[in-house]
Amino acid sequence: MRIVRDRRQVTALCREWRRRDLQQLVFVPTMGNLHEGHLALVRHAQERGDRVLVSIFVNPLQFDRADDLARYPRTLEADAKKLAEAGVDALFCPDAADMYPDGSAVEARVVVSGLSGILEGASRPGHFDGVATVVAKLFNLVQPDVAVFGEKDYQQLLLIRAMVEALNFPVVVDAVPTVRESDGLALSSRNGRLSDAARQRAPALYRCLRDTANACLLEPDRWPALFPEILAHAENRLREAGFRPDYLHIRRAADLGEPRAGDGDLIVLGAAWLDDVRLIDNLRLGCGKFAGAG
Ligand code: PAF
Repeated sequence: MRIVRDRRQVTALCREWRRRDLQQLVFVPTMGNLHEGHLALVRHAQERGDRVLVSIFVNPLQFDRADDLARYPRTLEADAKKLAEAGVDALFCPDAADMYPDGSAVEARVVVSGLSGILEGASRPGHFDGVATVVAKLFNLVQPDVAVFGEKDYQQLLLIRAMVEALNFPVVVDAVPTVRESDGLALSSRNGRLSDAARQRAPALYRCLRDTANACLLEPDRWPALFPEILAHAENRLREAGFRPDYLHIRRAADLGEPRAGDGDLIVLGAAWLDDVRLIDNLRLGCGKFAGAG
């Protein structure tokens, strides 16, 4: 696996691949601390094209809290080993000075209006401007044919798709389903910060989403009037399980708008604190009853 740290070198490498024999370059942007969820993105990427490039960059621009950025796990050596073992072609791991040569106050930002101000965006001001800006910069450096994102960060996925559409990036955005532990907890780099006791309680977030989805599916003819009651019950259950809920919403899966009567493809999304760790998760409604995981 080639390891490239400089933004000019990564562009040169991708151009060289194209000159030689490249058919389809697939890009997997990450912030590192790789787990099975990331490796599922890599496997999908390998099926989609003949070269896979992964980036690892802890993007300061998307952190709304300095302590969160400082505590974000940086495990580059172990990550590079996992990617090499997985058969990835190249790893791009720039530092902040290379990605933002003028410091963190970049002069141009990408703002995807609408989507960036709701749910995660409302709780974490500026977060999605940081995500859109760095992903646009990475797309320009790598110029991939396909880019792969996880459904775990569902709002991020929609935001990237909206950005690609609005700015005419010639990139196909693929989504890969959330990978879960056997107890239902969605894999996340933040899980490693949970204490043993918190780790035991953490799957309650998934169970709440699952039970919320199942309760909705029992009475589809009462959508969306039924939702506030079901969500209030779910928030109480989260509190009983030791969480501090941030938000719990049912939205249209296509655009995260408020559901109206007749909308079928919905998603339940939640964010909640467990001690000082903020977990997020989501589940689509409309694909049958959810079972399993307690
Ligand atoms: O999902 C992530 O890991 C990050 O938000 C991303 C897309 C790599 C941008 O920094």
